[in-house]
Amino acid sequence: AAGPGRAQDLAGLRVVVSAGGTREPLDPVRFLGNRSSGRQGVALAVAAADRGAEVTLVAAHIDGEVIGEVLGGVRGRVTVVSVGTALEMQDAVTDAASGADVVVMAAAVADYRPAEVAESKLTKEAQGDRLTLELVENPDIVAGLAAARRPGQTVVAFAAETSSGDELLERARRKRERKDVDLLVVNEVGWTRGFETADNEIVVIGRAGGVAAQTSGSKREVADAVWDAVVATRR
Ligand code: CTP
Ligand code: CA
Repeated sequence: AAGPGRAQDLAGLRVVVSAGGTREPLDPVRFLGNRSSGRQGVALAVAAADRGAEVTLVAAHIDGEVIGEVLGGVRGRVTVVSVGTALEMQDAVTDAASGADVVVMAAAVADYRPAEVAESKLTKEAQGDRLTLELVENPDIVAGLAAARRPGQTVVAFAAETSSGDELLERARRKRERKDVDLLVVNEVGWTRGFETADNEIVVIGRAGGVAAQTSGSKREVADAVWDAVVATRR
């Protein structure tokens, strides 16, 4: 919780946290989405504010109640910017990152979006018994941020993987390298784990490919472990 006793080790830092899941419209009433609730990202934003940072939370389709948790305890130190699609997220995050010391991309960004957005509802009458959607790749936002980062700016990516054990770690190492981020926070997800849950289990991969942190606990505990790893890499 906030208040006396909590280390203000992020004081003076401006941080950006993206959270939630983008939605890519298909037509005026439908979208392609994902199961991210935004809870881990919100916990990261709250933890950073509690530790003294000035926070911009770029939120994609996060439940009002979950966002309410942010405005509750740390009002005034978190600015919330709401976005819908991956392209909107890219604009908002890139904008906020220009003055930031740390950027944490916890959002689940759609890898692809419909090549065309229909002006009116797709109908069965027009489509028949089979529908093929053409998708185009979205830009990799965090890789773009890492490529453009200023000296002293720390870029952190998240990865949700359905593999486990050594394979999970190897995939995470390759992903960190490919995106050239300072830290990659990886957690295992599946049909029954990782989403809509209170707890989380993570491994943080650092620049040399080593394990910079490893923890399991509440989303707040995980958030604090991520900020501890950020503070350690910036020393
Ligand atoms: N990410 C991003 N822009 C995208 C896709 C992902 O910035 N278009 C970010 C996410 O916010 C996250 C990190 O990249 O911080 C890893 O996302 P992930 O989906 O695990 O990686 P991908 O490179 O999309 O690989 P995969 O094929 O495993 O989905
Ligand atoms: Ca992806």
